Amino acid sequence: MTSGAPEKRRLTILGSTGSIGTNTLDVINQLGGRETFEVAALTGNGNIELLAEQARATGAELAVTANEDQYENLKSALSGTGIEVAAGRSGLIEAAERDAGWVMAAIVGTAGLAPTLAAARRGADIALANKECLVSAGDLFVRAVRAGGGKLLPVDSEHNAIYQVLEEHQRHAVERIILTASGGPFRQSTLAEMRDVTAATARAHPNWSMGLKISIDSASMFNKALEMIEAKHLFGMRPDQIEVIVHPQSVIHSMVGYSDGSVLAQLGCPDMRTAIGYALSHPARPALDVQRLDFAKLSRLDFEAPDEERFPALRLARLAMERGGMQGAILNAAKEVALEAFIGGRTGFLQMAVITEAVMEAMIATPAASTMNDVFAVDEEARRLAKVIAERDAAA
Ligand SMILES: NC(=O)c1ccc[n+]([C@@H]2O[C@H](COP(=O)([O-])OP(=O)(O)OC[C@H]3O[C@@H](n4cnc5c(N)ncnc54)[C@H](OP(=O)(O)O)[C@@H]3O)[C@@H](O)[C@H]2O)c1
Repeated sequence: MTSGAPEKRRLTILGSTGSIGTNTLDVINQLGGRETFEVAALTGNGNIELLAEQARATGAELAVTANEDQYENLKSALSGTGIEVAAGRSGLIEAAERDAGWVMAAIVGTAGLAPTLAAARRGADIALANKECLVSAGDLFVRAVRAGGGKLLPVDSEHNAIYQVLEEHQRHAVERIILTASGGPFRQSTLAEMRDVTAATARAHPNWSMGLKISIDSASMFNKALEMIEAKHLFGMRPDQIEVIVHPQSVIHSMVGYSDGSVLAQLGCPDMRTAIGYALSHPARPALDVQRLDFAKLSRLDFEAPDEERFPALRLARLAMERGGMQGAILNAAKEVALEAFIGGRTGFLQMAVITEAVMEAMIATPAASTMNDVFAVDEEARRLAKVIAERDAAA
């Protein structure tokens, strides 16, 4: 005999304390919270107070901090609740491997690779926010998802938009995908002006509220470069089928062009909860309390071709896609080091692309990865080389 109550969906959020993680919990609350969902595991890193609060509020089975030094703090914050506690890399893997049909992969950086891969291998549907899984380990990761049999649901607003308008039964008729880019704070700046930009001015994104690094990546268009590489893996496109168009209002989140000349676009207010909700409810659409577009107030939508001289990151992405192999991982690792150097005032805004390209050229013969350890080794070597180049530049 059954109780008649609908079965709850079990899910895990890797990186629950971050911006995507907290937005995911907001969506889950909007869609019924504990009545509808069962949280298998939540993970964070340094924000123990928030992680413990989230675990208590959701009744999570397991809470994990990636930082082993925080294990005792998390344990004492959750004492008496019955919530299991774990820490470190093994704790993250434990969270990813715990039985849950849907996993939000929102750990930032290469730390997200191993747990996301573990969840993919066991066949969970992966809502993917982490960039490194596709940029650094695209072929390996996509193979793991296929072998596991789960769905890969993109969360980044651009890829989520494409996912929404890419009609599976019309895949053969897709000619191109068009990623929109806001153009960032330097859309209209000259090359000379961009040479003197500081981290404080570069972080002022016109439409989205984001962290420091991702805001600067948007300003330099390295963020778009990573998205181009992600799109290649996600949608199985050739590099020449991936276009970028600057669209300052960020209302159209991306588009798909078909062989009959039609272009399908997804539009909305800039709010990650729409993309997260779609990834959570796919193929259905959830009812979400997010701002609606008011077309009468929009008045206009503008488009411009991106200027690859001022935003060389786009050219580097194309190079990485055409070369294949480990060039995506190398681009990403070198860019991270260059970004740190820029934030620390040790290199210039435009120099970030120069450093990245130098590392890509130096490591052009790197063979494709067979295992995750190969990816980590290449990532480490690209970072080492980028540091040498950045330090040499700073000393010059
Ligand atoms: N935010 C967006 O709108 C957006 C859009 C598209 C894609 N993305 C991508 O989605 C990912 C998450 O973005 P976010 O904005 O949510 O980042 P975030 O706010 O920085 O949050 C990152 C999450 O990862 C955890 N974390 C940090 N270092 C870690 C480590 N070494 N090991 C394990 N966990 C660690 C953080 O824990 P603590 O907070 O507890 O330290 C937090 O839970 C990134 O790859 C980002 O590029 C973000």
